[in-house]
This record gives sequence, C-alpha cells and structure tokens, in this order.
Amino acid sequence: MAGERDRIEVMHGVNLDMLGRRDPLHYGSLTLADLDAQIAAWATELGLRVSCFQTNAESEYVERLHSLCGRVDGVILNPGAWTHYAYSIHDALELTGLRAVEVHLSDVQAREPWRRLSVIGDLCLATFSGRGPDGYRLALERLREALDKTGE
Ligand code: DQA
Repeated sequence: MAGERDRIEVMHGVNLDMLGRRDPLHYGSLTLADLDAQIAAWATELGLRVSCFQTNAESEYVERLHSLCGRVDGVILNPGAWTHYAYSIHDALELTGLRAVEVHLSDVQAREPWRRLSVIGDLCLATFSGRGPDGYRLALERLREALDKTGE
C-alpha cells in the first residue's frame, strides 16, 4: 500500500529518448515509452508513486533536480553520457539531499574506459549497471527498502 514516503522520480538523461533506435546489444529494443510503462507497473507493485522525466539538455536536468526538493522522497538517475563528466549534475543531486540510486541499461564497466567513471556514484545508495530494464526494478526495490527504514 502506498505510504507517506512513496514518491519517486526517474530521471533519464541525454539520448535515452532514442531507446529503440540505439544499439540493441547494449540497450535492448524497448522504447523509452515502453520502459516508463514497465517502471510504472513495478512501482505500483511496490506501493510507490513514480514520475518519469527525460531531457537532452543538461541545464534542464539540473533544474529538474532543483525542483525535486520537498516534492519527492527518492530519485533514480540514468544521466546517460553525462554520468561520466557532468559535475553540475553531481552538485545538483548533492544539494537535493535525496536518496538516490544510479541505473545504466548497459554494463558501463565492461565498455570503453571513459564510461567507468561516474560523477554521481558517491551520492547514490546503489548502482545497477548492465541489468537492462530490470535495473530500474532493482532501484525501485532499493529505494522502497530505504524509505521503509526510519532515518535511512
Ligand atoms: C547509459 C550508459 C552511458 O555510458 C551511455 O552514454 C548512455 C546510456 C546506459 O544506460 O547504459 O547513454 O547510461
């Protein structure tokens, strides 16, 4: 049942609106709309209320993070390529003070060396990478667990 602390924002970053047209070996064949529908179904099962957001503009991603303060209880981030260099997103996430989980559809540790760095990893409760869409289910479960524990 949906409790008090149950609002989750899922933030997809740059190029994730192109899912379905990107390399299926890394990203599978789901479109972003398919993925968001799947995330919403998992969230309902877990008693979470979810909103999904995507942009290709780094400034919009940062502004959206600013707007989350007091509006949601947790955030799931897949910033796409920004993950690897956009310290503006690190700082914006940090100031929200929100519980956060990082997700990547592909296994970023097993790809090009530049994908191994995450500028947000130190702010996240967990990172799920290379699990495909299931990574979002794992992230929702991790946040559910954190929200259920007082003080975490
Ligand atoms: C990604 C991995 C990033 O390295 C890449 O730039 C993306 C998607 C993923 O979900 O696997 O755009 O975040």
